[in-house]
Amino acid sequence: SRTVRLAAIPGDGIGPEVVAEALKVLEVAVGDEATFEVTEFHLGAGRYLETGDILTDDDLAAVASHDAILLGAVGGDPRDPRLRGGIIERGLLLRLRFALDHYVNLRPTTVYPGVPSPLADPGEVDFVVVREGTEGPYVGNGGALRQGTPHEIANEVSVNTAYGVERVVRFAFEKAQSRRGRLTLVHKTNVLVFAGGLWQRTVDAVATEYPDVAVDYQHVDAATIHLVVDPSRFDVIVTDNLFGDILTDLAGAISGGIGLAASGNINPDGAFPSMFEPVHGSAPDIAGQQKADPTAAILSVSLLLDHLGLPEAAARVTAAVEGDIADRATRASSADPRGTSEIGSAIADRVRASTSTSSVRR
Ligand code: NAD
Ligand code: IPM
Ligand code: MN
Repeated sequence: SRTVRLAAIPGDGIGPEVVAEALKVLEVAVGDEATFEVTEFHLGAGRYLETGDILTDDDLAAVASHDAILLGAVGGDPRDPRLRGGIIERGLLLRLRFALDHYVNLRPTTVYPGVPSPLADPGEVDFVVVREGTEGPYVGNGGALRQGTPHEIANEVSVNTAYGVERVVRFAFEKAQSRRGRLTLVHKTNVLVFAGGLWQRTVDAVATEYPDVAVDYQHVDAATIHLVVDPSRFDVIVTDNLFGDILTDLAGAISGGIGLAASGNINPDGAFPSMFEPVHGSAPDIAGQQKADPTAAILSVSLLLDHLGLPEAAARVTAAVEGDIADRATRASSADPRGTSEIGSAIADRVRASTSTSSVRR
């Protein structure tokens, strides 16, 4: 069977807690189809405070030599002055996304039956946000004048290239075509006329090649209304890096909690390994207490397996999660009394029941 080399970056806070459960599930999910060799990388705020290194060129090369990456979360205590300015988030997470050309940040949302969604009647919700991953205001194209004075001017310029927008828009159209054939561009073209204009023109142009995909447009502020009031209307949303970041935390909340939201940072060309991670962060408020829901990390494993061409294993993981979530719904209280590793083990048990042999070497 084929061998997959997986780089695991547990990271900080609840990252290691949820990655442990994700690997537990991975071990039982792949049957004879593949053998996983997992290499763990000690990266994140913890490593930085110990050694001063965030992501060395050697680290990057080593991570990049793998077939795929599983990341927990990075970012330390926000009150720690040594970590100010998102030094870890930018130097590690964003550097990986940029260096490995993860131009598609794929963030699916499903409201599973029985899930405790804050929406009273969410309807049949199943959409995916295709968030651009390498451009926008994330590129660090900014600066400040007269910093610290009353006359300070702070600029953060959003970079949008025709090349970068077109490739992610094309991906979104392909996705829509393989799903329910609906694509929504979300932007703010009434104010951000240059970037918005490029996005709208690109969508209009690519749309002519996909006559079977129905295209619409929403301003990002209105999109937040529709996501809460009528989320079942969405199939594929394509949007820029920052809008996508914000919309997908909201999407996580409506799907029953950020602990359920999975994502893939994809390099569709296959030139670099793709990276799978929960949408949530390191959650310092609950770290080390076994309070984190590992489901998002486990569903990220499902996305990873799908990406690697192991759809049966991916489906076993998703089915096990669905089963576990349905079980949660039958409890009297909506709060899950189980700890992180109990949830992981319960899902792993369900997967095991549907798989024969495991072939993961660590
Ligand atoms: P967060 O996602 O870590 O936490 C937001 C809220 O959601 C908190 O109340 C937290 O307890 C809760 N939460 C998060 N994950 C959960 C889970 N699995 N189960 C149950 N509850 C969960 O966002 P934040 O507080 O804004 O950020 C904390 C740190 O994480 C910051 O340093 C931030 O930069 C970083 N961050 C990292 C990533 C990443 O590595 N991919 C993503 C987002 C934020
Ligand atoms: C996410 C996170 C990151 C982002 C941060 C930590 C840089 O919020 O993955 O959603 O903004 O992309
Ligand atoms: Mn985010």
